[in-house]
Amino acid sequence: VTALRTAGGGRIELAVDGWMAEAAESDLAPLAELAAPVLDVGCGPGRIALALAAGGRATLGIDTAPAAVAEAARRGAPVLCRSVFDPLPGEGRWGSAVLLDGNIGIGGDPVALLRRVGQLLRRAGRVVAEVGAPGTPTERTAVRIEPRRGRPGPWFPWATVAADRFADLASVAGLVTERVADHDGRWFATAARP
Ligand SMILES: C[S@@+](CC[C@H](N)C(=O)[O-])C[C@H]1O[C@@H](n2cnc3c(N)ncnc32)[C@H](O)[C@@H]1O
Repeated sequence: VTALRTAGGGRIELAVDGWMAEAAESDLAPLAELAAPVLDVGCGPGRIALALAAGGRATLGIDTAPAAVAEAARRGAPVLCRSVFDPLPGEGRWGSAVLLDGNIGIGGDPVALLRRVGQLLRRAGRVVAEVGAPGTPTERTAVRIEPRRGRPGPWFPWATVAADRFADLASVAGLVTERVADHDGRWFATAARP
């Protein structure tokens, strides 16, 4: 399996095969109520963006990895090759944003990421973030991708957030946590822009 290696020597397995597959029920159930338009931050090959768009919701996936964006576009997902920290269409008008598959780690500073997502949302817009189980590490770290074969990629900043630490971080970022719950063995936090 492809894995993320943390600077402290830890290992986070990446379900890359899962990302290429169709979105699973455990991905989509927590997103069922989300208001459109939906921004999928770090969309990878576009699994979630595709499923939401197929369900009739206006959706945009963004990702910084050109190969992932090209694959998402090939599959028909609405995508842009852009960082969440770059200027984006519809700033302040998104109904929802999603940070799945550990994407709360993007940029290595969850408060900065949630603050940025808050700027993108309209008032009462919501973000759904997948988080770690309660009691798992909440830390800023560096990771690199270690593929099954071939050389590891460069180190980049990353972070992990446990379910029981999410509300505090979201609050510093100006968001109000509405719900933290597990679904099918995964943990999801929902927070709103006041
Ligand atoms: C853990 S993977 C998630 C894959 C995807 N959510 C899926 O289900 O297919 C993290 C993704 O975030 C992207 N990413 C990293 N930094 C980013 C940034 N600043 N803005 C947008 N995407 C970013 C990476 O390129 C990678 O595709």
